[in-house]
Amino acid sequence: MEAPLFHHSQPSVESRSRSVNTYPKTELRDLARWGGPPAFVNPLHVGRPNVVGREALLRRFQGVLESGWLSNDGPELRRFEEEVARRLDVRHCVATCNATIALQLVARALELSGEVIIPSLTFPATAHALAWQGITPVFADVSSDSWTIDVEHVESLISHRTTAIMGVHLFGTPCRIERLQEIANRYRLRLLFDACHAFGCTHNERYLGSFGDAEVFSFHATKFINAGEGGAVTTNNFDLAQRLRRLRNFGFDLDGEVHEVGLNGKMSAFAAAAGSVSLAHMEEIVSHNYSNLVDYQRVIGPIPGICMRRPSLAETNNFQYIVAEIDPLRFGLTRDEVFLLLRCENCLARRYFFPGCHRLPAYLGASPPVSLPSTDAILDRVLILPTGLSIDSHAISVIGDLLRFMTANASFIREALSLTPGDAPGIPREFVRIEGPALPVPVSHYLDTMPVHLS
Ligand SMILES: Cc1ncc(COP(=O)(O)O)c(C=O)c1O
Repeated sequence: MEAPLFHHSQPSVESRSRSVNTYPKTELRDLARWGGPPAFVNPLHVGRPNVVGREALLRRFQGVLESGWLSNDGPELRRFEEEVARRLDVRHCVATCNATIALQLVARALELSGEVIIPSLTFPATAHALAWQGITPVFADVSSDSWTIDVEHVESLISHRTTAIMGVHLFGTPCRIERLQEIANRYRLRLLFDACHAFGCTHNERYLGSFGDAEVFSFHATKFINAGEGGAVTTNNFDLAQRLRRLRNFGFDLDGEVHEVGLNGKMSAFAAAAGSVSLAHMEEIVSHNYSNLVDYQRVIGPIPGICMRRPSLAETNNFQYIVAEIDPLRFGLTRDEVFLLLRCENCLARRYFFPGCHRLPAYLGASPPVSLPSTDAILDRVLILPTGLSIDSHAISVIGDLLRFMTANASFIREALSLTPGDAPGIPREFVRIEGPALPVPVSHYLDTMPVHLS
């Protein structure tokens, strides 16, 4: 077994007993789905904001207030942009109010039109930013190994209306950048990357942020580095950066003249200060995320039918997402069943990015959805588990414990789920108490093999 590279402090016994309800669960009705107390007293979120450097942040806010420079290219904004550019080793960073606006600004600045090819397996904002600019997002499949845009499929989707390809470095995995650049060059297309999951990740030991024509990052509260709300475009192209700066500020040029239509895409000084303080804690957050990944691997690794995707350790990663896959035949329950049961236990796992952009009502139009077999298969089995500074090894042990309990009692649970009326898939309604049998394999069965005892 791989030894953790980083250690973080264990929660005290008192904080454990506050965060976890009584164990063991031995009967069906002990599961929260059927009325038992949820395993976690408070909800565990995917992407609970990492709140760091509180004192420093308050000092920086105080400085902003004293300066009176709350927005419009002030020193905090400049500092944040410089820090991001330095970290990513890219010439220009243009910070924005969020990544959705950053994507729109870059589409506008590069004068994209017609169609842009993107993966369907992404957050809807990737598609929305284009659609909002009157551009048609054309949905490509992803490759079944990297889960990033499938380059062969991209090539087959290029039409006379295509003006760009936009890859997404999903869950921090870089796209096949060189192949995409080759195709973009051959067809004279722009190449962009939605790098919202990939701050601090590398490709061939070079930070993502300076590939293609430009890359876009998010500093939303749920991202591991956050500014509350925020985004940025990074690029090595000076002219593009200048145009982005104009466009994010109503089109105002340095001479104060408005030569083109712009919008207000600025990041405030408060957000910039928050982003900068968050950035100063990046190593600490990444090492905690890595430690969580190692803990998840330890508890989930031995469970049949559920496996974790592990980022390549040959590259630098932010370990921001814990990505698990469920094989229903081996696990005994489907991903949606596990998702529902975990959510009832207050472990708020997510099914990113179900059902895929190509199946969103907003993009269905008149025709049936296109078939994207790899995307659809991934979306049937993916489960994102909570991580970040609010998650520790004890919480991860409990999640592992619940998963082992579920798979060991899968046939009973399945039957009980089929008997329980009124379920919308994935959305816990009111809990229906049923008298269930004692389950053959209680959680307590596993306790002596657990590194952390639950009491
Ligand atoms: C892949 C991806 N693209 C775009 C966005 C939009 O970012 P923002 O919330 O900063 O607009 C997100 C946000 O979660 C995302 O995950």
